[in-house]
Amino acid sequence: MKTLENVKIEVAREEHIKYVDVINDAIDIASKQRGTGIARRTFEYLTGKIKEGKAIIALDGDKFAGFCYIETWENKNFVANSGLIVVDEYRGLGLAKAIKYKAFDLSRKKFPDAKIFGLTTGLAVMKINHELGYRPVTFSELTMDDQFWNGCKSCVNYDILTRTHRSKCLCTGMLYDPAWEKNNKAIETPIKKRSLLDIIRKLTPSKLRSKKKSNSRINESGKLLSRIFNALFY
Ligand SMILES: CC(C)(COP(=O)(O)OP(=O)(O)OC[C@H]1O[C@@H](n2cnc3c(N)ncnc32)[C@H](O)[C@@H]1OP(=O)(O)O)[C@@H](O)C(=O)NCCC(=O)NCCS
Repeated sequence: MKTLENVKIEVAREEHIKYVDVINDAIDIASKQRGTGIARRTFEYLTGKIKEGKAIIALDGDKFAGFCYIETWENKNFVANSGLIVVDEYRGLGLAKAIKYKAFDLSRKKFPDAKIFGLTTGLAVMKINHELGYRPVTFSELTMDDQFWNGCKSCVNYDILTRTHRSKCLCTGMLYDPAWEKNNKAIETPIKKRSLLDIIRKLTPSKLRSKKKSNSRINESGKLLSRIFNALFY
């Protein structure tokens, strides 16, 4: 049985250009198996990605095992990690996850302010994206760049996308927005802990509070509690 023990996942370099045909063939085979198109790219396109340092490759020694590349849209405001492929015999071992994590990392480093998104019908990719912090969104949240959507033309479901004016299709759109990280920091500010007495005090009518200052607040709270208790059970 295959393992990932000797599989190396790295940013692809010029010496990996020799794998481009193998990568495209693997994508073709997978498209046929799935019955939905995964955009086949030209030799030049994938070579360009490798030269620009925008591709991740997984190799088991010299043997090709997996691949993924980065695309940018709308003036680099949107990034997609596309063309994910794992060779049949390496599937189910966590290789796609490892490749996607590396591609995500690279995307965040190269384009720290860009929104990262993807379209998929596949549960495996949905799971990985979810783990990475993507959220499901409607297509309205994704790039408006025609060039991106033109990539769907090779899919058997393209007629659905055009019929719905690009608002929906069989794929789920998923998005990671770096702005959420900033929002999260705001949420992380410590929540003021309140005691039960504080809460009861809040519930106590202000009149009650001002009259009997020193007769202990516990007393007032006790009265209120007893009123609530009576109302509930008698
Ligand atoms: C989709 C694909 C990339 C998954 O590769 P993989 O290396 O087998 O995936 P992983 O082993 O990293 O699995 C990641 C998660 O998805 C799950 N998963 C993997 N294949 C799955 C499948 N066919 N159905 C449902 N879940 C699956 C795994 O159990 C794992 O979940 P976990 O984190 O809860 O354990 C691979 O099957 C493939 O190349 N398919 C053809 C091309 C393709 O569909 N590309 C995606 C285009 S969007």
